[in-house]
Amino acid sequence: MEVVVADITTLEVDAVVNAANTSLLGGGGVDGAIHRAAGPELLAECRRLKGCATGDAKITKGYRLPAKWVIHTPGPVYRDGKHGEPELLAGCYRRSLELAAEHGAESIAFPCISTGVYGYPAEEAAGIAISTVREVMGRLPGDMKVVFCCFSSRDREIYEKMMKR
Ligand code: APR
Repeated sequence: MEVVVADITTLEVDAVVNAANTSLLGGGGVDGAIHRAAGPELLAECRRLKGCATGDAKITKGYRLPAKWVIHTPGPVYRDGKHGEPELLAGCYRRSLELAAEHGAESIAFPCISTGVYGYPAEEAAGIAISTVREVMGRLPGDMKVVFCCFSSRDREIYEKMMKR
């Protein structure tokens, strides 16, 4: 696992994960950035997927992105952490890794899912991301490179602190 501060649409990885919403029809934040960079064919393919449940993930091609695939996963909207948000967020990481492995991806980049518009506290979310990736990578064949792509140095510091635990 490694942590970078970057615009995820620029990363040279096999799969980039999109913090989507359940319609899969685009939005702001990283969703907007990925759709802008990938071009209109991404939305056309997403339309055919007919949405995605929170905590699940669906895969499309990457089109104009450097990445071969985009894995779209709707994270939970944070309320108080007592309405299943931790389990749903863990599902985003688990299902994305499973899909990437099924498609033979050798590298994957995650944004900080749910910590923007969906209001998930950054530390809690990072803890869930790291522990879920460790758990899933422990049982998946091969050794996929996992990149946590932060959009601020603050987030990177959180990940680096949480990874030491
Ligand atoms: N590259 C990497 N990370 C980014 C980028 C980018 N280009 N743009 C934003 N981010 C970061 C944000 O700073 C935040 O840390 O992605 C993280 C997730 O924030 P959001 O994009 O707001 O995603 P989320 O909180 O999961 O909310 C999802 O927002 O855009 C809509 O359609 C989306 O309804 C969905 C909701």
